[in-house]
Amino acid sequence: MAESMKGLKRTHRCAEVTKAEIGSTVTLMGWVQKSRNKGGIVFVDLRDRSGIMQIIFENGDIDAEGFEKAGRLRSEFVIAVTGRVEARSGAVNENLATGEIEVRANSLRVLSEADTPPFPIEENSKTREEVRLKYRYLDLRRPDLQRNIMLRSKVAVLVRQFLANEGFLEIETPILNKSTPEGARDYLVPSRVHPGSFYALPQSPQIFKQLLMCSGYDRYFQIAKCFRDEDLRADRQPEFTQIDMELSFVDVDDVIDVNERMLAFLFKEVLDVEVQLPIQRMTWKEAMNRFGSDKPDLRFGMELTDVSEIVKGCEFAVFKNALEAGGSVRGINAKGQGAMPRKKIDKLVEFAKGYGAKGLAYIAMQEDGTYKSSFAKFMTEEEMKALIDAMQGEPGDLLLFAADKTKLVWDVLGALRLELARQMDLLDKNEYRFVWITEFPLLEWSEEENRFTAMHHPFTMPMEEDLHLIDTDPGAVRAKAYDIVLNGNEIGGGSVRIHQDDIQEKMFETLGFTKEQAYNQFGFLLNAFKYGVPPHAGLAYGLDRMVMLMAKEDSIREVIAFPKVKDASCLMSEAPNVVDKKQLEDLCIEVCLPKEE
Ligand code: AMO
Ligand code: AMP
Repeated sequence: MAESMKGLKRTHRCAEVTKAEIGSTVTLMGWVQKSRNKGGIVFVDLRDRSGIMQIIFENGDIDAEGFEKAGRLRSEFVIAVTGRVEARSGAVNENLATGEIEVRANSLRVLSEADTPPFPIEENSKTREEVRLKYRYLDLRRPDLQRNIMLRSKVAVLVRQFLANEGFLEIETPILNKSTPEGARDYLVPSRVHPGSFYALPQSPQIFKQLLMCSGYDRYFQIAKCFRDEDLRADRQPEFTQIDMELSFVDVDDVIDVNERMLAFLFKEVLDVEVQLPIQRMTWKEAMNRFGSDKPDLRFGMELTDVSEIVKGCEFAVFKNALEAGGSVRGINAKGQGAMPRKKIDKLVEFAKGYGAKGLAYIAMQEDGTYKSSFAKFMTEEEMKALIDAMQGEPGDLLLFAADKTKLVWDVLGALRLELARQMDLLDKNEYRFVWITEFPLLEWSEEENRFTAMHHPFTMPMEEDLHLIDTDPGAVRAKAYDIVLNGNEIGGGSVRIHQDDIQEKMFETLGFTKEQAYNQFGFLLNAFKYGVPPHAGLAYGLDRMVMLMAKEDSIREVIAFPKVKDASCLMSEAPNVVDKKQLEDLCIEVCLPKEE
């Protein structure tokens, strides 16, 4: 039976009551975490988003009816309690913020009763994620998720505060759009008024924020929902949130400057972590060569070594063929892993194959100075020695090599480096290592489409000193693009935009767009540029990813209130779902499903 809260007013959240309130009367409202009936006395742990308070119901302090109600309380009942704050009569609970006090109740109302939840509402739940997501509204009651969601809210508030102080205006851009150019698949929304036409949900506010610069707003930001129909992973959702910004009359350094200060402010306010400024910068090329990744995790070493020169004369066919095909041979030194059992090394080889490697060659250096190797028989002793020296191999080390096209070698060793760090327990979630990756290639060759595609997007400005290469060697042109990377995660990225029509036209030409195609897709932006466009640049963070790292979580689902699962569905609401025939008729849509095999 649910009672009303008429005449009652909550005075505190549970964990807001402190020792200073001892002796005073408080009214708390929340959920019963647990209740223990000890005959003449009932103990209840009362929970709200702030934490837990122990409540004591004792016959005599509270009337008989109230005491009887207290005896019937079960987990997740919602109650209102009024009582006196006292020092704990029993043992102090050091695990609770309110562990030294308790509330002796003199009145109780049961605001609502509750069925037994499908899983216990508690910290560090062992419940399977599918069950948690099906009952997300209960999952969200758990203290760890509540902390994450509150942390996220704090970040959003601080971002607004910081950017407003820096002269940024918060401006909303439309959700129902024409297709935007971030390169993922669009989510489409059919138009009823224009049968056969579709809106695309924004993959980012990119074009609109550039238009806002054309309109003179100068500094824009938005905490923006973005939609991308791409394969999901732990750090990707079909709808996610960006902290999106754009600035006029700036170059790379200006964007980096304001963003470094914002990151330092956020990490100080939220985590009390000092971010050393300026944040380190690394060119894309250096990142790939040293770490095999454009989002290097700098919390540990284990850098890649290019040994192509060392092994170029050798007879080992795997190395020889890769080099002859224009590829390279590179290695990493897993320090102290030389005694790794063969079975475990084989697992690493399988891991590498998952990234496209044809194999992984190794030298397992033993403590007695000898070594075991998968390819020593193809090499001379001098060649082996030179290789080990180049890798700074010492007794007890495990040296791993990949030979292939360089891009593949980077991918394989970059991933292997991270896997080894995981196995060797080198990743400390309390350490925050930021790095800017700069000078990205402007273009990327797409085997699939047999043409160059924009690595960032088609409005990204080439580096002036590389412009002359755009016809002769487009793959070598670097862009004024930058990513901000934290602990191996790309948390944000952006670029200086092209504001000169000749360069923009050249860019479209290189991407294989005709002028007509370019105007079809982005005409309103290109037209806007004809009426006076300021030089501009911007950046967008993945808010979910940033908060995930701040919360020391491994998945962005842990910092999103209602996330979707791998197949882009919501287990709770069961979206997406079929709709009424009538709705489809209004939209002139007929569904034709693929025939089952
Ligand atoms: P970009 O595509 O790099 O740039 O996106 C910016 C940041 O958004 C995050 N992100 C995602 N987070 C969760 N799920 C996803 N599916 C997802 N996709 C991207 C990443 C990424 O760094 N308009 C440009 C920015 C600009 O040039 O100003 C853009 O969208 O953390
Ligand atoms: P094989 O002669 O094919 O038995 O290969 C000898 C060793 O080289 C094995 O340990 C393979 O795993 C390894 N190997 C094969 N292909 C590659 C490659 N592309 N890069 C590095 N090692 C490889």
